[in-house]
Amino acid sequence: MKTKITEMFGIRHPIIQGGMHYVGFAELAAAVSNAGGLGIITGLTQRTPAALANEIRRCREMTDKPFGVNLTFLPVIAQPDYPGYIRATIEGGVRIVETAGNNPQKWLPALHEAGIKVIHKCTSVRHSLKAQSIGCDAVSVDGFECGGHPGEDDVPNFILLPRAAEELKIPFVASGGMADGRSLVAALSLGADGMNMGTRFIATKEAPVHENVKQAIVAASELDTRLVMRPLRNTERVLKNHAVERLLQKERSLGANLKFEHILEEVAGVYPRIMLEGAMDAGAWSCGMVAGLIHDIPTVQELIDRIMDEADRIIRQRLARFVAD
Ligand SMILES: Cc1cc2nc3c(=O)[nH]c(=O)nc-3n(C[C@H](O)[C@H](O)[C@H](O)COP(=O)(O)O)c2cc1C
Repeated sequence: MKTKITEMFGIRHPIIQGGMHYVGFAELAAAVSNAGGLGIITGLTQRTPAALANEIRRCREMTDKPFGVNLTFLPVIAQPDYPGYIRATIEGGVRIVETAGNNPQKWLPALHEAGIKVIHKCTSVRHSLKAQSIGCDAVSVDGFECGGHPGEDDVPNFILLPRAAEELKIPFVASGGMADGRSLVAALSLGADGMNMGTRFIATKEAPVHENVKQAIVAASELDTRLVMRPLRNTERVLKNHAVERLLQKERSLGANLKFEHILEEVAGVYPRIMLEGAMDAGAWSCGMVAGLIHDIPTVQELIDRIMDEADRIIRQRLARFVAD
């Protein structure tokens, strides 16, 4: 399938694997790229720029297809070594960067000078327009359904995507709640040029996370996610568990007095314990409502082939029937 996104990134299918903390290692990124999508290594999961450089090398050993690096610009006081991570990305010969979080404007000249295409993840039309105005090449429009940080506007994709299509001139992909061929065709109908998936890619054979995480996603329904950290205006959609119930109890009892320090135990440094050790109640971890549509753990190749076959069938058969007179 050819879209503005497949052409911009030099990929076969308009399917992107979004950056995911402690999930987006070289193994997953390479598997997605080898299957014709765009795999993305999560930059900040690597503790240092040197470790990111090594992860990029590992990924290149596993695929000769294009892959990207996610750089998440966090609203924290102790800033990671962003110039170092950007240098490692450029020197590693990566041609695509997914930015997320704070405005990436400061970093765009260096990335563009190196010939890198930048896709910025946005949860609103106004942030998407901002990304377009500062020179981003594409946007990933992340609806309220999404796993991770949906922002504070709570606009689901059935509204957000066509609104983005009304306003944007640069191409965009639909993100949040995407799982299968139906999602891809819907995304294209609403004006997107492809889709970005997070949660769906965790429940695959190649995702280098503990089996417990994959089983938790398969077992979960669309009713099992919770929004945490809303009082801090840092809302995150996570899978419910004991730590999340405790966190929400703290939010209820502290109200407007809630500070980040109060919930450190539930959110700080919990990802390695969950993703690598499978300690499912160790803390809050991002997961989308799309868990309700995930019922199996295929290989990435099986998943992407299935999505493309299903999309093809929907367009040629189901939708074509409605226009035949
Ligand atoms: C476990 C997990 C970790 C994530 N970590 C990041 C991250 O570090 N940076 C980022 O930009 N997005 C992150 N995301 C968001 C995904 O890239 C993607 O935008 C989101 O999962 C899309 O929604 P979906 O889960 O419904 O597909 C994460 C998502 C999940 C599920």
